[in-house]
Amino acid sequence: MQRAVRCAVLGLGRQGYCHAENIAHRIKDAELTAVADIGPDVAQKTAAQLGAKRWTTRAEDLILADEVDAVIVATPTDTHAALAIAAAKAGKALFLEKPLSLDMDEARRAMDAVRSAGIPCQLGFMRRFDPAYAHARRRIAAGDIGRPLYIKAISRDPAAPPADYLAASGGIFKDQSIHDYDLARFLMGDEVTEVTGMGSILVSEDVERYGDVDQALTFLRFASGAAGDVEAYRNCFYGYDIRTEILGSEGTFAISGLQQHGVTLLRSRRSSFEIVPGFLERFEDAYRLEMQAFVDCVIQGTEPSVGALDGCRALEIATAAQLSLERRSPVALERECARA
Ligand SMILES: NC(=O)c1ccc[n+]([C@@H]2O[C@H](COP(=O)([O-])OP(=O)(O)OC[C@H]3O[C@@H](n4cnc5c(N)ncnc54)[C@H](O)[C@@H]3O)[C@@H](O)[C@H]2O)c1
Repeated sequence: MQRAVRCAVLGLGRQGYCHAENIAHRIKDAELTAVADIGPDVAQKTAAQLGAKRWTTRAEDLILADEVDAVIVATPTDTHAALAIAAAKAGKALFLEKPLSLDMDEARRAMDAVRSAGIPCQLGFMRRFDPAYAHARRRIAAGDIGRPLYIKAISRDPAAPPADYLAASGGIFKDQSIHDYDLARFLMGDEVTEVTGMGSILVSEDVERYGDVDQALTFLRFASGAAGDVEAYRNCFYGYDIRTEILGSEGTFAISGLQQHGVTLLRSRRSSFEIVPGFLERFEDAYRLEMQAFVDCVIQGTEPSVGALDGCRALEIATAAQLSLERRSPVALERECARA
């Protein structure tokens, strides 16, 4: 019988703790062997809480550890590519949070490293595993809405992240809209060829110091002639609002997960429901399903359905959006990764 995949989670903040908890309790054929965080208290506490045998403040030590088969990287974004390259050198299976990197050259180096090492590599684009998005993708691929013509995506976060997160995030296009760029490619089954990025500072004046905005819009043109727009906002006071619409020549899919618990209260000529508070609640199933898919690939020796190339392509769109915002004009994609 195949033994469980021995996993190490690197970075134990909001996202890393979620992955560690899933691996410890909900993922079949996986065990949480070790955890790392530069904060010794959080590393030690998480190991004790979730039953990991080993904890450390040095992520690199776990990448090299014999008792680890797979590393799950959920450290700040500016560390991703270096840790991915280290995992490739060590021959460890890799689950890497988005984005792959903040820099296209570095992203390509990381992609080349994982490819030449032949390790399984999955990017943390969990929305692909959300049951609603996965269903829409299957139906679109089966031709149920005819030819996909336009995608409209809205991603509004309930509150801007803390300053230290923003400083390493790479800005709203690479950090937040990147989920929608990946979804756009996934749902439309098409590649983006030109990008126009716009943005404003509406609430979080402090984002200016990182060359960032707290509200952004990206207009996308696709190779097929289809188009789309991606809206991102950091300070959505009413909750976590993720909506997507794919307009086809014979039908439209509209996906929303705004409603918490699926319960609506009806009163006299009035109805109300609770709004989902954040990404961990909205994508709870998706985080579990993406990790199970990764572990299944490691066991079966198959390639994950979303990998480093997808990470590169989404980053290419985000990089072009940032450039477009700065230049105030559309930017054609060099499509260097698209040819990879
Ligand atoms: N897929 C998603 O939906 C999603 C959601 C949130 C965050 N993320 C991504 O996950 C990553 C982490 O985001 P977060 O919100 O969890 O951040 P966070 O700030 O909550 O957590 C980061 C953690 O990493 C630790 N850390 C920092 N440097 C480290 C290092 N070199 N080695 C080990 N630990 C280190 C920090 O101490 C902290 O505990 C980011 O790249 C982000 O883009 C993805």
